[in-house]
Amino acid sequence: MLGLYIHIPFCNRKCFYCDFFSIKYNAILADQYIRALIKHTKQFKNKKIHSVYIGGGTPSTLSLKQIQLLLESLRNIFDLSQLQEFTFELNPESSSAKKLNLLKALGVNRLSIGLQSTENMFLKFLGREHTFENFCDTYNAARNENFDNINIDLIYGLQNQSIKKWKETLQKILFFDSEHLSLYPLSLEENTLFYKNTITTNDDIQRNMYDEAVIILTMNGYNHYEISNWAKKNKESFHNTNYWRNFEYIGIGAGAAGYFNAVRYKNIMDIKKYIRLLQSKKKYHKLNDISLRCENEYINKQLYEKEKIMLGLRLLYEGLSIDNFNNPKYKAVLLKCLNDKILKKQNGQIILSQKYVYIYNHIISKFFI
Ligand SMILES: C[S@@+](CC[C@H](N)C(=O)[O-])C[C@H]1O[C@@H](n2cnc3c(N)ncnc32)[C@H](O)[C@@H]1O
Ligand code: SF4
Repeated sequence: MLGLYIHIPFCNRKCFYCDFFSIKYNAILADQYIRALIKHTKQFKNKKIHSVYIGGGTPSTLSLKQIQLLLESLRNIFDLSQLQEFTFELNPESSSAKKLNLLKALGVNRLSIGLQSTENMFLKFLGREHTFENFCDTYNAARNENFDNINIDLIYGLQNQSIKKWKETLQKILFFDSEHLSLYPLSLEENTLFYKNTITTNDDIQRNMYDEAVIILTMNGYNHYEISNWAKKNKESFHNTNYWRNFEYIGIGAGAAGYFNAVRYKNIMDIKKYIRLLQSKKKYHKLNDISLRCENEYINKQLYEKEKIMLGLRLLYEGLSIDNFNNPKYKAVLLKCLNDKILKKQNGQIILSQKYVYIYNHIISKFFI
């Protein structure tokens, strides 16, 4: 299985909490960037791809022409005969019926819509450019285009958000009956306005909100298949699940991460330099071209096993198979965690015990790093 991730580092404006790599959309720069992306993908020409994820930033900031050029090029460059999932991230403020129609026509079969909150007051607090009503219009337009696999992103644990308000948000979300939900506790990241303005979060409240989500979403037909992700039956994200299975994926675009030919890498986080470097390249058949990267690490057997544990334990049903591990140190730690009931066996696989799911980061850093 091989995935393809393409990073679109443009947004209409920066949300107050967000530290993802993106700048304000600029049509001329975006034109050059799309051409550079296409040239970069040619390094991987004819590779068989099983899932595509176009994320950001905000891919829906791109114009109709830019979307068409990028998506049509992918069809010509890669072997997509075995493609199972094609996701495109969409924000309400930059989406339109025309864009949705084009995405459908070009083979996108899954949308991920960034909503973050159903309350306009909180959307304003977060620095979002859209209202809840704008989201409803986008969602309905997507359904009208017959998209039958939609994810909604939400953030919880906002300042002055009570548990009662969060439960109301979840009830409002259930009404949409989306196939997939991603819920994230607000995290305060350096280099954001929230960090500078010393906005605070409360761990205990975030934990309670998570527990409420687990109960409410499970009762309403969603499988809690990954720490932050819920899906209807057979609607788990195939692309993201393959990340957690530690499968390889090609990362294209400034700031994109990839894992290919046993090398984990990150591309440079400088859009103009990325464009310049690609413009200057005459040949594009060189795989693992390190000139476009700022990180490049060979994953040896030991590191592979460590990452497999760290990622695999995120999959709450699938987990890991102990037989896949040769390293005696990791085997011993897994057995100790089983003995201490931090992990448990289910259908022959090892998974995290429910009580420890929310503190996954703590468990990983204590036992496996
Ligand atoms: C990189 S964003 C891209 C999606 C899209 N541009 C949007 O705004 O919805 C992916 C998701 O990460 C989440 N996210 C980003 N920064 C976060 C933060 N500081 N705390 C919690 N969630 C965050 C949001 O839910 C967001 O939808
Ligand atoms: S949350 Fe999305 S729209 Fe907001 S700045 Fe981050 S990537 Fe851009």
